[in-house]
Amino acid sequence: MKAKLDQIRCQVQEQIKSCDTTEKLNEIRVSILGKKGQLTDLLKSMKDIAPEERPKVGQMVNEARAEIERTLEEQKRKLERALREAKMKAEVIDVTLPAKKTEMGHRHPNTIALEEVERIFIGMGYEVVEGPEVEKDYYNFEALNIPADHPAKDEQDTFYITGDILLRTQTSGVQVHEMEKGKLPIRMIAPGRVFRSDEVDATHSPSFHQIEGLVIDKDITFADLKGTLAEFARELFGESTKVKFRPHHFPFTEPSAEMDVTCFKCGGAGCRFCKGSGWIEILGCGMVHPHVLEMSNIDPEVYVGFAFGVGLERIALLKYEIDDMRLLYENDIRFLKQF
Ligand code: DAH
Repeated sequence: MKAKLDQIRCQVQEQIKSCDTTEKLNEIRVSILGKKGQLTDLLKSMKDIAPEERPKVGQMVNEARAEIERTLEEQKRKLERALREAKMKAEVIDVTLPAKKTEMGHRHPNTIALEEVERIFIGMGYEVVEGPEVEKDYYNFEALNIPADHPAKDEQDTFYITGDILLRTQTSGVQVHEMEKGKLPIRMIAPGRVFRSDEVDATHSPSFHQIEGLVIDKDITFADLKGTLAEFARELFGESTKVKFRPHHFPFTEPSAEMDVTCFKCGGAGCRFCKGSGWIEILGCGMVHPHVLEMSNIDPEVYVGFAFGVGLERIALLKYEIDDMRLLYENDIRFLKQF
């Protein structure tokens, strides 16, 4: 009996230690300790043993049983630990791996230039407003004193949607929208997209951007216009920038002028950038025409104003020394990344 028991113990210990799944471990448990298991069978044969031997044999069987259960339990824990470790290993994140590169977006030179212009005028107490891109003829032309037979109204220059509705050719119409609100004084800039039926080349595009400016108050003079725009030019292009006003004509301002700034590249000596003149034209401006005020129900005997219009692309091209406007619209990331 003892020999049989020792044989079972040895054999089972081997089986358990070489077992590699918890399912198999369970099968072993059943085959030894179960109802029809080897050890149970052995207990059943106790009846054939002499009664005085029984307690001793019983104790031996119980010890063997306890030993087998311990081994089973140990092996079970070992298997579970191995399983946990394998799982952790599979889930491990290697923080030293190089990250996947994602291309970051970038602000467009137009946006950077616009934010700069807005910062300057907001600093002078101006409000930033917007107007519609699809506009009535009245706002784009008529209320700005542009007569019906003006060449700008030609279909060759303007995209018409109907006879009366068009894509605005200038942001100047926003002046009229603001004046119509009837809230005075006005100090506004209005950035936005404009449209003209132009062929694409290095300096033209059928769609570009302007920034309109309008100030209406009592006692405004041409000196206010000059001082404001000279300060704008200095902030935008540098402290040493000088400005020059040349007489010009715009239907909605009287008198009208174009403003030049000293070339920031050569400082006014003349270079390739300013085509040797030392000056670069940068905006149109003037005192708001009394008739324009009148049409928007503002009394020109009481109120005066000045206005100006700047091309946003022109500023971006100048500031970043870009010599082809088309680069601004291609959105090539290699180009945009440089600003
Ligand atoms: N709207 C003009 C243009 O598109 C630019 C301009 C000139 C706007 C003079 C103004 C101004 O407000 O006073 O060419």
